[in-house]
Amino acid sequence: MTKVELAERVMVALDVPDADAALRLARQFEGIPCWMKIGMELFYAAGPSVVREVKALGVRVFLDLKLHDIPNTVRGASRSVTRLGVDMFNVHAAGGSAMMRAAVEGAAEGAAGKGRLPLIIGVTQLTSTDERMLNGEIGIPGSIDDAVVRYARMAHSAGLHGVVASAREAAAVKSACGSGFLTITPGIRPAGADAADQARVVTPRDALADGSDYLVIGRPITAAPDPRSALERILAELA
Ligand code: C5P
Repeated sequence: MTKVELAERVMVALDVPDADAALRLARQFEGIPCWMKIGMELFYAAGPSVVREVKALGVRVFLDLKLHDIPNTVRGASRSVTRLGVDMFNVHAAGGSAMMRAAVEGAAEGAAGKGRLPLIIGVTQLTSTDERMLNGEIGIPGSIDDAVVRYARMAHSAGLHGVVASAREAAAVKSACGSGFLTITPGIRPAGADAADQARVVTPRDALADGSDYLVIGRPITAAPDPRSALERILAELA
């Protein structure tokens, strides 16, 4: 893979508290064709305008709001986020098939007349959970792999384009749903980096080797003294 192709598979999580900080950070990656991920911290503080401002930098945006509500509400939310012009957004697969189908319908309505549909991704089991939490606290029996694959099959048959999961589950997702079904994998930690609250971590190189399509990387880049060099180091490590 070329450096450009590698960069196009990295999503930098802009987990910062306001639009100024987000734009300052995003501008540091100018010329590197990575995606920008806007999540709850930034969106709830800065609102839809920050999405438009980041898009105006000419980058692809994954809006990570993890929609999870009744189908009618998710249909409307999906219509709204699609109108913002995002390239990808996500919903919790735990919301069920009807909710995910409603997301697909809402996105189609939001895109009506002006072209491109965003990719719609299902969140499976958060990468901050491990099997003990899943079985004990949350009360879902079986392995993390089983839970992730079950959510992935639901997302696939509801018409979603892929799922968020740990790279550790990417191969199982691909074998259940086909190689074209996307896997977006957070919990990426270069060797020696702090896992923080992530439980199922994988190095960037292993994530790609395991079949992950997009690597979501936050703190290892954004909390580094020089985020651009941190990203470049990761890309060099992958090349
Ligand atoms: O800083 P770090 O690399 O842990 O950031 C991971 C990013 O991916 C965060 O923005 C987090 O919200 C997001 N994410 C996640 N696990 C999921 C879905 C999204 O960690 N299942």
